[in-house]
Formats: sequence, structure tokens, C-alpha cells
Amino acid sequence: MSNKYNDPKDINLSPTTAAPDAAEESLDPQDWEEMRALGHRMMDDAISYLQTVAERPVWQAMPEGHEQQFNAPLPRQPTPANEVYEEFLQNIFQYPMGNIHPRFWAWYMGSGTVMGALADFLSATMNSNVGGGNHAATLVEAQVINWLKELVGLPESASGLLVGGASMANLVGLTVARNTQAGFDVRQQGLQGSPKKLMVYASSEIHSCNQKAVELLGLGTDSLRKIAVTSDYRMDMSALQDAITQDRAAGLQPICVIGTSGTINTGAIDPLNDIADLCIKENLWFHIDGAIGAVAMLADNIKEQLTGLDRADSIALDLHKWMHVPFEAGCVLVKDRAAHRDAFSVTPEYLAREARGLAAGREWFSDYGVELSRSFRALKIWMSLKEHGAERYGRMMARNVEQAHYLGTLIEREPELQLMAAIGLDIVCFRYQAEGLDEPALEVINKEILAELTEQGIAAPSYTTLKGKYCLRVAIANHRSKQEDFDVLVSEILRLGSMANPE
Ligand SMILES: Cc1ncc(COP(=O)(O)O)c(C=O)c1O
Repeated sequence: MSNKYNDPKDINLSPTTAAPDAAEESLDPQDWEEMRALGHRMMDDAISYLQTVAERPVWQAMPEGHEQQFNAPLPRQPTPANEVYEEFLQNIFQYPMGNIHPRFWAWYMGSGTVMGALADFLSATMNSNVGGGNHAATLVEAQVINWLKELVGLPESASGLLVGGASMANLVGLTVARNTQAGFDVRQQGLQGSPKKLMVYASSEIHSCNQKAVELLGLGTDSLRKIAVTSDYRMDMSALQDAITQDRAAGLQPICVIGTSGTINTGAIDPLNDIADLCIKENLWFHIDGAIGAVAMLADNIKEQLTGLDRADSIALDLHKWMHVPFEAGCVLVKDRAAHRDAFSVTPEYLAREARGLAAGREWFSDYGVELSRSFRALKIWMSLKEHGAERYGRMMARNVEQAHYLGTLIEREPELQLMAAIGLDIVCFRYQAEGLDEPALEVINKEILAELTEQGIAAPSYTTLKGKYCLRVAIANHRSKQEDFDVLVSEILRLGSMANPE
């Protein structure tokens, strides 16, 4: 029914000159024009900041005592918005983590996009709560989830949920696995109802967030069997089969195997198809931690390695890694929608769904995860994917893989550098080496190189330890990296290495 409240179909975006009502205080600006000018300035500064990122150091230390800037007590009185912004420029903007820079390759992070940042602003402007309800943001999230199902090859009937990142996505997926496979009503009885110890299997290269998930699920770390890997850091299938057989014989109850598509250390991809076969044979849930690699289904030079991804019962993936959506953006997908819903849905009276109005609408996302109030993170994914198209993301990933191999050839060309593992996806593990240095000395020298690389603002790799050996680790989930950035990395490592080891 239309009336004077819902008549206008188009939003009026032209500025109003009406003065705020002084008697009824709100948090809106006292002077909208002043705020508009500040907003324009912020936008200009932000775009220039991104445009010129390569001209700045990848990282710089904050000056001594900088933390004093953050010691003041709760601000009880207002500060003019311009001054708040100046403080941001002075004390915060100049000291980023660095992961928007072309030579940032630490841990595993995406580099963000301009559209992603703008979309986050728009989403905060709408401030929609996407726990549920009948409004456009829920449709956007549903569409993004459908796109991601299509991307990884899960059927239309599968369910999904956007979450903060793969840690949460793994927790949600593993919760569904536990509840479905336990054989009793875990929600009703808790693990007190378990006649047998429930067991989860993953390779020794599994990301630590899965251990956290297993602990949070009340299973305990002892229930996470870490299976040995082959020389290429992939799950050893015969060791997996043996562990399951032995556990059953000992009266334990295997429930789930976690495969990883892109391990954090070396980017290895577990044999997903073999794990899927084994899970069918053993009647186990197959969960994939695809935080790094699942989205690489878009890359022509990778997707074959991911064969079997679509056979998972649940998949955790990240959009804030190789898809460069600004933090936070992860997703969990579950093949059996009913099992997913059964693991989380609780509908108290105050959340009852209606046939009409705001409380109507499609299924509520809060029925598929832990959180009730949820941000409109779908918008930055939706706008980014539309702006660039999925194929461009695939090309960016394929280029990162080529860059990893280019770096590999540079390393192999230098006698002072040593490749420490096969290059998995876009991850290169290597170290500086020099004649006559033992393992402890090599560790010291490589730590020194890493510290200097970041402190001098040259590049930001990270490190790992493989087979007891400390190595530098370069993870190239970066759409801004160019070939010459890797030339710089290698020549600077050689320079820093020879300075640290003048012999
Ligand atoms: C394989 C893997 N799984 C899970 C995670 C955790 O993801 P997030 O940091 O998005 O929670 C990471 C993070 O790097 C990862 O590499």
C-alpha cells in the first residue's frame, strides 16, 4: 500500500540546506556541508594513497614512543571532525601493515582494491544488518554465495555463509561435520552424549585455526590426528588410511578428514580426489580448508591441481586473500543445506519470521552460523567481482604463480640462494646460504636479512621452518607485484647476505 511515507521511489541525493534541530541532539553532523567537504578530502587522500603506494616503503617502524599517542583516556567531549581526521593522518595512516604494497609477500594476505574500499564505505553508509530480514543486502549476500558455489563447483542446492575469514569458515564447516557425523544429538546432549571419542584427520601441514576449531568444538587436540606428509608436503594417503583403521580398531570414531588446498607453509595441495574416495569408503565428512587455493579454480594454470574440490562436503575459503577483497571476507560452503541449518538454527520468538514486511524475506543467514548481527561484507565482494569479472581475478592468480616460478629461477641461478621446497601455488621457500656456515649460523643470517628487508622498507616476505631449517618465505598473493619487484628482492637479499656474512 502506498502512502506519503513510502511514495518516493528514487532516493533524493541532492543536498538539503535545512539546519539541524538543536533541541533534539543526534550524532549527525552539525554542518553537513563541512562534513561533505571533509568526506571529499578523505576520498581524494585515500585514492592518492593507493595510487602512490609503490613510491613508499613497504613498511616503516613507528617512531619511538608512538604508542603514547594512544594512551589518552576516553574522550568525553567532542573533537571537531577535521581534527580527528588530522590525527588519523598523523598517527595512523602513515604506519600501515604494508600489504597493499607491491613488495609485500608476508604470511598470506590480499592487497585490497580501490572498489573494495569504496564498497566498504557504502556498506557502512547503509549499515544494514545482514543477520536476516527483508532488504536488498540479504539478496546481495545470497548472490555472492551462489557465485562462489559456481566458482568451486558445488551444486545450487548447497548453502553458504559469508564470515570474517577462513578461521571462522573452518569452525562453521567443522561444526556441521561434527554434528552430522557424531551419531547422536550433539546440540541436545553436548559431547557428554558421546559413547566414543570423535576423531578428525588432517595433514601435519594443517593451518593452526583448524586446531582451534577442534578445541572449540570440545573435541580436544588429542582428537586431531596429524597425518604425515610426502616429500612434497601433501597428505600421505597410506598414513591416513592406517590412522583411520587403527583408530577404529581402538574403539574410536573417525568423523572427518580435512584436506587443504594450498597449505600455509609451502602452498601444497592435498590429493583431494583420493581423500574424497577414502571419505566415501570410510563414511567420513570431507572438509576442505581452501583459504588459499579454492578460489584458484579461476586460474587456468592451477585448476587442474584442484580436481576433487567439488567433492567436498564443506569448503572454507577466503576472499581477503587471493581475491583481494579488503579485510574481512571469508566464506563457508556446505553441500547439505539442511545439515548446515540444523547445526545452527535457533529461532526465539523475537526473531520469528513473518510473511510480510521487514521480518519476512528469504532464509536468515543467522541460521547458518554463530553470529546474529552481521556486516554487509557481501557488497565489497559483489562490486569487486562485477567491476573486474571473475576471469581477471583468474589471470591475476595465474600471473602470481608465474612470478613464483620466475623467482624460483632467479634463486636457482644464484649459488648463495637455495630453494627449500617445491613451489606450491604462489609460495616460494628459500634461504641465503654461504660456505662453511652451520644450521644455527644460517638461521641467524637469514633472520637478519628478513629484519633488514622490512626495516629498510624494501620488501616484506615472512619465514617458516621446513624440516627443521629456517627459511624465507614469499607468498605472492599480490595483484600489484611486477616482475622487477622480484629482481629487487633477489639483489637486495644478496647484498644484505654478503653484509651479514663478510667472509
Ligand atoms: C590454509 C589456511 N587456512 C586458514 C587460514 C586462516 O584464515 P583467516 O586468517 O582468514 O582466518 C589461513 C591463513 O593464512 C590459511 O593459510
